[in-house]
Amino acid sequence: MENSIIITLTQLCLILAVKTLMSRGLSGAVELSVSPPALQCNESVLLLEMERCGDTFRTDISFIHPDHRCNLTHFIRQYHSFSLCTELNSERVGCFWPNPWVERFILRQHRLLFSSCRAERVELLDPPEGTLALLILLPVGLTLAMVALVVWCSKRSDVLA
Ligand SMILES: *[C@@H]1O[C@H](CO)[C@@H](O)[C@H](O)[C@H]1NC(C)=O
Ligand SMILES: *[C@@H]1O[C@H](CO)[C@@H](O)[C@H](O)[C@H]1NC(C)=O
Repeated sequence: MENSIIITLTQLCLILAVKTLMSRGLSGAVELSVSPPALQCNESVLLLEMERCGDTFRTDISFIHPDHRCNLTHFIRQYHSFSLCTELNSERVGCFWPNPWVERFILRQHRLLFSSCRAERVELLDPPEGTLALLILLPVGLTLAMVALVVWCSKRSDVLA
């Protein structure tokens, strides 16, 4: 049981990391050729948009049978919509995606999702605090690693160009 949650969270991390990489690559390319976003990124406007994405996500999840809410196969589509929602709306209000506020927001959603998975299996599963912290920090670490990698790659291509 614990393993399936770890696998699920690892998959989510990978999705986030891949999307981060793709979007960084794209926005990096756009940044070089086009002018910066016309709108100034405003944290409170951004967080309001993210709350709306979160509300939709929780509604979508609520339509999934409770037995299947911890099963990635059953919620991958909703997760993808949620991720896309945070991305499109961040950019729409003039913020880059991902950014620290959105990352913190997405992590909070992960934590909500994860804690409900624990509650259902409370007799079967009781992961130590350390495991929980690791699972929550893993996406942040991966995202940072991806950003660092892309920055490093673009620096290198500057040197090579
Ligand atoms: C951000 O937006 C809010 C609400 O629209 C506004 O009250 C606030 O002054 C803005 N902050 C900045 C730094 O522009
Ligand atoms: C998740 O759902 C799929 C499709 O219904 C099923 O085949 C799979 O066994 C489920 N996985 C877990 C860990 O329950």
